[in-house]
Amino acid sequence: NMKDQDNAKKNAGEASVSLIENGMTVGLGTGSTVYWMMRKLGERVANGLEVQGIPSSRQTEAWANEFGVPLTDFSQVKELDLAIDGADEVDQQWQLIKGGGGALVREKIIAAAARKFVVIVDDSKTVTQLGAFPLPVEILPFGWEMTTARIVELGVTPVIRRNDANDIFVSDNSNYIVDCRFGSITDPKTLHQQLKQLTGVVDTGLFVDMSDKVIIGHPDRTETLSE
Ligand code: A5P
Repeated sequence: NMKDQDNAKKNAGEASVSLIENGMTVGLGTGSTVYWMMRKLGERVANGLEVQGIPSSRQTEAWANEFGVPLTDFSQVKELDLAIDGADEVDQQWQLIKGGGGALVREKIIAAAARKFVVIVDDSKTVTQLGAFPLPVEILPFGWEMTTARIVELGVTPVIRRNDANDIFVSDNSNYIVDCRFGSITDPKTLHQQLKQLTGVVDTGLFVDMSDKVIIGHPDRTETLSE
């Protein structure tokens, strides 16, 4: 139920904050699990922890301001010590589908800039094979119909994402997102490459070989997977 899932998100989000050490630069992910991480991090900053964060979305930037987490950007920082982010699916090799919240491109730039990438999920996100969750793919608005037609050739029916008012959803990067329900993704790396090489595709929600640690929240405890 919702209450249990919320507690699981809270447990995973809060547990991740113990990985943040004084003086670190930290990539700040997006989503409802990251929310709990941000709240806890704000508490630690209030108690004297020195950190600088780079947010992966306007939503996370707003939470940073609300909870008092100092921010920086890539003009000031060449590398992040750590990035912490949620996911929509995590498989047994710790490959991810992300982008349910539409922040996948900034999230991937941040994850790639981090020496350690920590994934925080509630226990509903773990899967044996990726793909039940529709894969988000960010595409340029110009010619989006053409780009979508190229994606169809990969054997999927992409759905252009819309907001609550039924207008086309626009990402923080002013792009569109198509959600691609593959059902099962047997080779995430190859699928990512096939999509990524299409002109008009900015990036995909497949995060392949990026995770260093996965914190799985349960309603009453957390479980940490790391090498
Ligand atoms: C945002 O674009 C996504 O990648 C989120 O990280 C993902 O959707 C997880 O969000 P929740 O923690 O809200 O489930």
